[in-house]
Amino acid sequence: MEAERLVGPVQQEDDRNYEVSLRPRTFAEYIGQERVKEVLQIFVQAALKRHEALDHVLLYGPPGLGKTTLAHILAAEMGVNIRMTSGPAIERQGDLVAILTNLQPSDILFVDEIHRLNRTVEEVLYPAMEDYAVDIILGKGPGARSIRLDLPPFTLIGATTRAGMLTSPLRDRFGVIERLEFYTPEELAAVVVRSAKVLNVKIDAGGVTEVARRARGTPRIANRLLRRVRDYAEVKADGRITAEVAKQALLLFGIDEYGLDKVDRRILRTLITTYSGGPVGVDTLAAATSEEVGTIEDVYEPFMMQLGLLQRTPRGRVATEQAYRYLNVPYPGKPAHEQGILFNND
Ligand SMILES: Nc1ncnc2c1ncn2[C@@H]1O[C@H](COP(=O)(O)OP(=O)(O)O)[C@@H](O)[C@H]1O
Ligand SMILES: [Mg+2]
Repeated sequence: MEAERLVGPVQQEDDRNYEVSLRPRTFAEYIGQERVKEVLQIFVQAALKRHEALDHVLLYGPPGLGKTTLAHILAAEMGVNIRMTSGPAIERQGDLVAILTNLQPSDILFVDEIHRLNRTVEEVLYPAMEDYAVDIILGKGPGARSIRLDLPPFTLIGATTRAGMLTSPLRDRFGVIERLEFYTPEELAAVVVRSAKVLNVKIDAGGVTEVARRARGTPRIANRLLRRVRDYAEVKADGRITAEVAKQALLLFGIDEYGLDKVDRRILRTLITTYSGGPVGVDTLAAATSEEVGTIEDVYEPFMMQLGLLQRTPRGRVATEQAYRYLNVPYPGKPAHEQGILFNND
């Protein structure tokens, strides 16, 4: 239970403590996402050349892929300050107006989980993004009047795991919209090597490969597995992470060779055994597995979809033939003797 809590894909306090030290500071240090990096570098150079603020940027994709890191890098490359906040943290229009009117020219305002901004707060952003201005209402009732305050040119960087939940007036005001993709095993290996250096962890090439391939395409998870495997190596071995040590540790933590953990397996098993493979609504699936809908949608599903184990359909979630094989359950669509068992699992 303890092990599961510490290694599962959901972000934890422990990650936050390490993230600052492990975070790449420049484009050169930022591994992978080559196309996104190239696009952003062009915009940065163009803005610098014209002595203008960078256009507003929306970054989306599953958690842990490097959205916040990119925002910091953009600020560093532009040579400007970055002010960090998040959708749920801004409760009233006045809170946002106060933040906006305190920005310096060309500053970056980073709004994490921007899909969770409430609508009245969001409306402040429209003129702010478009005209660098905010309208504030003075007084109440019939005597109330609206005045327009000019803002310095600034850059809004929004991050979200759910681009689909953004309203179109907000989305349309971003000049750059980029989606981050899951990382390849090779890119994750580079992340592990880099982090091992920063953390002074001894790990050989075999150890790197084992950690990288189980990291669900996600640098945050690669870093977390590295730390957990290091703990194991220090207690159970001589502190050095080899392929064997990494395998033993990850087996103990319930992470299989694809990076799936007990929660993924519980979701798949529920889908297959309780709901005959689906389609089933995500709310039902969440209730049946005691997980939160948002966590299933943001954290568990994207990677299982990437592996081809699960599909989202308009009528609900469906387990694929792969998922049946993964759990060693005969696929109802085919006679048993035609089904090879590909995966070996608990
Ligand atoms: N491209 C990358 N190269 C190296 N490390 C990365 C990269 N992207 C993310 N990381 C690591 O993963 C951690 C989580 O990244 P973060 O930017 O917080 O993700 P997000 O904001 O998308 O959830 C960072 O602290 C950093 O150590
Ligand atoms: Mg983030």
